[in-house]
Amino acid sequence: MTRVIHALAAIALAAAPVAALADGDAARGEQKFGDCAACHSVETGVNNIGPSLHAVFGRKAGDLADFRYSPALKRSGITWSAQTLDEFIADPQKIVPTNRMPYGGMTDAGDRADLIAYLQKATK
Ligand code: HEC
Repeated sequence: MTRVIHALAAIALAAAPVAALADGDAARGEQKFGDCAACHSVETGVNNIGPSLHAVFGRKAGDLADFRYSPALKRSGITWSAQTLDEFIADPQKIVPTNRMPYGGMTDAGDRADLIAYLQKATK
């Protein structure tokens, strides 16, 4: 019986990040985007200090022709999804060492889930 409970606990833990992503609150996420808005727009073609995040989901990292990315980001091989964005925003320098995004990371998984829920709507 204990083994079954352990197995279930393991499954619940493994599923937790995905559940958190799916449960994000876009309205709260819009507030969290305040962390990003100084550098990023969600409008098409509007590059500021950072590249436009319009249509970022499904895009390859470093793929906008009109933004000068770091070699590190271009070489990263990442395709942006809820999962890869979650990892990147948590700790950008860990995921893409020497990238040029001057942002230390959003440590709270719930905050990231909210932010991603917002981005999924706002970047369409
Ligand atoms: C101080 C400016 C700044 C802040 C704040 C910032 N970014 Fe960035 N961001 C950049 C820069 C500059 C790059 C390009 C980095 C490179 O080329 O290495 C970038 C790159 C990115 C990329 C890759 C885009 C692509 O086309 O591949 C994503 C996604 C991203 N940022 C999301 C975010 C999110 C979400 C936040 C807020 C949690 C955020 N950024 C905060 C400046 C910033």
